Amino acid sequence: MSSQLFSPLTLGRQTLSNRIVVSPMCQYSAHDGCASQWQLKHLATLAGSGAGLVLIEATGVLRSGRITHGCLGLYSDDNELALGQVLAFCRQAGAAHFGIQLNYAGRKGSSQVPWLGGKPLTAAEDAWPTLSSSDTPDGRSRACTHEDLAHIKQAFVAAAQRAVRLGIDVIELHGAHGYLLHQFLSPLANRRTDDYGGSLDRRMRYPLEVFEAVRKAIPASVTLGLRLSATDWLPDGLTLEESTVFVQALEALGCDFVDISSGGIAPAEIPLEPGYQVHLASHIKAAVSMPVIAVGLILTAEQAEAIVARGQADAVALGRAFLHNPHWAYQAALDLGAVAQHPVQYERVNPAKWAGGLVPAVSPAAR
Ligand SMILES: Cc1cc2nc3c(=O)[nH]c(=O)nc-3n(C[C@H](O)[C@H](O)[C@H](O)COP(=O)(O)O)c2cc1C
Repeated sequence: MSSQLFSPLTLGRQTLSNRIVVSPMCQYSAHDGCASQWQLKHLATLAGSGAGLVLIEATGVLRSGRITHGCLGLYSDDNELALGQVLAFCRQAGAAHFGIQLNYAGRKGSSQVPWLGGKPLTAAEDAWPTLSSSDTPDGRSRACTHEDLAHIKQAFVAAAQRAVRLGIDVIELHGAHGYLLHQFLSPLANRRTDDYGGSLDRRMRYPLEVFEAVRKAIPASVTLGLRLSATDWLPDGLTLEESTVFVQALEALGCDFVDISSGGIAPAEIPLEPGYQVHLASHIKAAVSMPVIAVGLILTAEQAEAIVARGQADAVALGRAFLHNPHWAYQAALDLGAVAQHPVQYERVNPAKWAGGLVPAVSPAAR
């Protein structure tokens, strides 16, 4: 039987060659939001990885919306120029479709890069004031005013328009992992008493307003989706049932896909085992008609194939597996008897053109 994982998938009006997505992964290597040589190397490698879609890392829609000083941004002309140069090269380096994840970090912003500790920046490290849905108990972040909300929403729109100018036709809003949009959705962070806090309807309101504003500002041909933490894994946190209602509301606004992750708003015990978030994706998939992406410890080709073939999700996103082996999809194609999408220069890695990649075509002694 032919592989479902390697069958095409239509997200919005864009068609991907297969259902393997490289999950967005911060590289903390940008300079004032501008992509560096590291992004060039990283994304060019992934361009030729055989994945159908590469989602570019969480990208700050404002300088103040970055997580760290190393985060990628799309808030200035310089940022746009730098990412444009990287993408121009990447489009020569492989056939993957590129998407981008847009983010406002909120109370998780102004942090050190992970390898320097990931702690809040000090004044000497050029810390900046951070915003959240509500004042944080540690006094570090203050609640967004209505003017802040309008400003950040407009920044999401402007960053999305910059992405569209760069020819990016898949945009994912970051509504997961404890960043600002999640800080509105989760009752653990959102303690507001105005129209943006309290009931689920009110907690969803700001993320939906941002989604709607971006949707209206970009062409219908550009695919727009959202990554969501479908549960906080905590008793008083956001629940899967609430997330399902939120996703249905997104669908009604023209959302093209959702990417289902979890956690990140506060420390929680998460059952980290292979495919630990797939049940969240499949629960949501049953409630909507748009495509759903599953992510989290999806490691082997067989596991990925089964998730798609059983209809638990329409696509799988892999993060660390692609850092470990950027040619994960080549191996998956071999394992599943499918054909990966190679750059023409690498076509001879196609199993039909050499001994399946497993047996050397020529014995070492004869070379
Ligand atoms: C280095 C690194 C950076 C990450 N940065 C992001 C990010 O920018 N946006 C995001 O939504 N998730 C981010 N994540 C989470 C991954 O996208 C993914 O959801 C998570 O690693 C689980 O998938 P995996 O088990 O396949 O790695 C990051 C993960 C890693 C390892």
